[in-house]
Amino acid sequence: MSDAVLEVRHLQTVVRSGGRDLPVVRDVSFDVRAGEAVALVGESGSGKTLTALSVMGLLPDAARMTGGTVRLGGHDVGALDERQRRRLRGPEIAMIYQDPMTSLNPLMRVGPQVVEGLEAHGVTGAEAKARAIEALGEVGLPRPERLARSYPHQLSGGQRQRVMIAMAVALRPKVLIADEPTTALDVTIQQQVLSLADEMRRSTGLALVWITHDLGVVARVAERVLVMYAGRVVESGESRALFREPQHPYTAGLLGSIPRVLGAERPELPQIGGAPPDIAALPTGCPFHPRCPQRVDQCQVDDPRLEPRGDDGANGWAACWVPRDRWVS
Ligand SMILES: Nc1ncnc2c1ncn2[C@@H]1O[C@H](COP(=O)(O)OP(=O)(O)OP(=O)(O)O)[C@@H](O)[C@H]1O
Ligand code: SF4
Ligand SMILES: [Mg+2]
Repeated sequence: MSDAVLEVRHLQTVVRSGGRDLPVVRDVSFDVRAGEAVALVGESGSGKTLTALSVMGLLPDAARMTGGTVRLGGHDVGALDERQRRRLRGPEIAMIYQDPMTSLNPLMRVGPQVVEGLEAHGVTGAEAKARAIEALGEVGLPRPERLARSYPHQLSGGQRQRVMIAMAVALRPKVLIADEPTTALDVTIQQQVLSLADEMRRSTGLALVWITHDLGVVARVAERVLVMYAGRVVESGESRALFREPQHPYTAGLLGSIPRVLGAERPELPQIGGAPPDIAALPTGCPFHPRCPQRVDQCQVDDPRLEPRGDDGANGWAACWVPRDRWVS
């Protein structure tokens, strides 16, 4: 058995749309260990948020998990009832949601919202209040006692994001999923939020899952990366190696759109043209083939599996028929 605090295996999730079940998360597997940061990267619609919500057991009504297992701190989450699962959310796993405005109650002051989350897990009364103020202070909010009395609309976007983080970390979770926490924040706040999460990881052994489009962010925070395309992991590996020598043309394309990361020297990589596929009408064969500069005839017919690269996956894992040394530039 691995020493992972979160272990996801063969996760499958569908969304009901137009009378059909559309596969939005397809056979996604990953582990996260204590103190480790793993990034989930991919373009919009690639299934990052639904992967996270499947892990949390908080899918929207239209979506449902149809396969796979999630193990959290030794528990097989699928074998638990909803009440038991709710008890894991907070102390075992927490999530910072993509949009702070939709996750905070606009009619309630922010302090009591943090308190409510604590009370749901048995921290009550004066202790809950003190812990809430402490959490708001820990995420770098000035004068937390005063700020706790504000309504969400009285705060800036960056402050609301911090309140979200305070809510997520107040119960000292072992795993934190941060879904695009930096979107729409200015660069200074972005840097502060990244540093804060990284500090918590180092000081408390928090396991982090970062969800982002931004490979620059990945380079800063994550040791390992999973690249998603059309609901599937198309490449995974250690960040430095993946930046230096991507094994999947899609990753290479994503890297081609940012100047330089981690100081890695690498040849000019082509950017990706076209748009991600419509999940209701996935292409035959490799779902990336209509956009892929490396495609060969086989790609239009056969769908490649995620397989180890190098000896026993020394160069990570990739789902591609064409090895890197046969790519055309
Ligand atoms: N509530 C929903 N109802 C119907 N379809 C949905 C719903 N939520 C997501 N989808 C669809 O599922 C797919 C994956 O969505 P998901 O939100 O996981 O993408 P994402 O990678 O998080 O994208 P982004 O970077 O834009 O946040 C998309 O095709 C999306 O349109
Ligand atoms: S399998 Fe073919 S189309 Fe898919 S990424 Fe590899 S080369 Fe491109
Ligand atoms: Mg998302």
